[in-house]
Amino acid sequence: MTTSTTVGAMPDELGLIPAEELRERAWAARRALGDRAVILGHHYQKDEVMEFADITGDSFLLAQRGAAATQADLVVFLGVYFMAESAYVLAGPGQQVILPDLGAGCHLAECADIFTVRDAWSQLTAAIPDKRVIPLTYMNSGADLKAFVGEHGGAVCTSGNAERAFRWAMSEGDAVLFFPDEHLGRNTGVRVGLTESAGVVWDPRSADLGGVDPAALADAQLILWKGFCNVHTAFTPAQIDQARTADPNVRVIVHPECPRPVVAAADEDGSTEYIIRRCAELPTGSAIVVGTDWNLVNRLAQQHPDKHIRCLNEFICPCVTMNRITLPKLTWCLESLAGGELVNTVTVDDDMARWARVALDRMLALA
Ligand code: 13P
Ligand code: SF4
Repeated sequence: MTTSTTVGAMPDELGLIPAEELRERAWAARRALGDRAVILGHHYQKDEVMEFADITGDSFLLAQRGAAATQADLVVFLGVYFMAESAYVLAGPGQQVILPDLGAGCHLAECADIFTVRDAWSQLTAAIPDKRVIPLTYMNSGADLKAFVGEHGGAVCTSGNAERAFRWAMSEGDAVLFFPDEHLGRNTGVRVGLTESAGVVWDPRSADLGGVDPAALADAQLILWKGFCNVHTAFTPAQIDQARTADPNVRVIVHPECPRPVVAAADEDGSTEYIIRRCAELPTGSAIVVGTDWNLVNRLAQQHPDKHIRCLNEFICPCVTMNRITLPKLTWCLESLAGGELVNTVTVDDDMARWARVALDRMLALA
């Protein structure tokens, strides 16, 4: 077990209560908790829970602002597991982190695990002993992987600061090992001026040197883990062509977890915070097509009725794990906490937390 949790069970009947009644109960519990609790909400959360968030943000802002919210004993995270783990690692003594559904994971984060990363590291260091490799992990990874990079001279990054983290890692060593998102890694490599041929893809399913040719590995500046987000790989260049055929003036903005051909065809790419800012900045009447999770795109469309904002893939399956945080589960958590019962706490073992903190602090210092 890398992390431990206090698991409770939401009573089934909460799922049968009308939404308006639940909403009132959740607000009553929220008010009762007062300053003892802070609620952090990621932009992909549904509106039904997002209205309770005291702080909203992308992964970077939530880590940064969550770490600064030292006045609250209880940090309720409306997001997914790796975000709650990071909040715990950055929390002060005595703070508890609560995730309303402990099954809210991340498909991308699960593309790398500590066993395959350790194995890759020992194969790499044996194959290119003269090269100093800096490991970087995306925020979307387990606390054990954050601890691994902390212990091996690396850092964490998010989509909001990947470029800065890559420049830092390239100045520290001869090559960067980036996991678990191949696409964010390739897109960031291009941003920092690397050619696509400067990178190789390490496939953890291949037992022999990640399937990489030894000569190519010796030359590589970027070693990309073969992992992906199943939401962002549902966007294609053909969808962008179609949007431009329908309206040649459309502005296409995508998240950098999309594959390289999609990012190359788009007008701009950036983190969820960046996408929100750009939708606000573009002038009234703009047609904007956005390649990221549906909950965020729908919220942007509602917030800017003077613009025409829609999702690049209107048939996309939203991030199912982000959607696991529902109003009944949040109500149950808030009422339990207000009644003095701690439920669904997320913790990280001390030694792991210590090294994960080193990696997260390096990221925060780069900002
Ligand atoms: P942001 O850090 O841009 O919010 O992205 C997090 C994420 O999980 C995107 O899929
Ligand atoms: Fe993970 Fe993709 Fe969901 Fe983001 S959208 S939390 S990367 S599965």
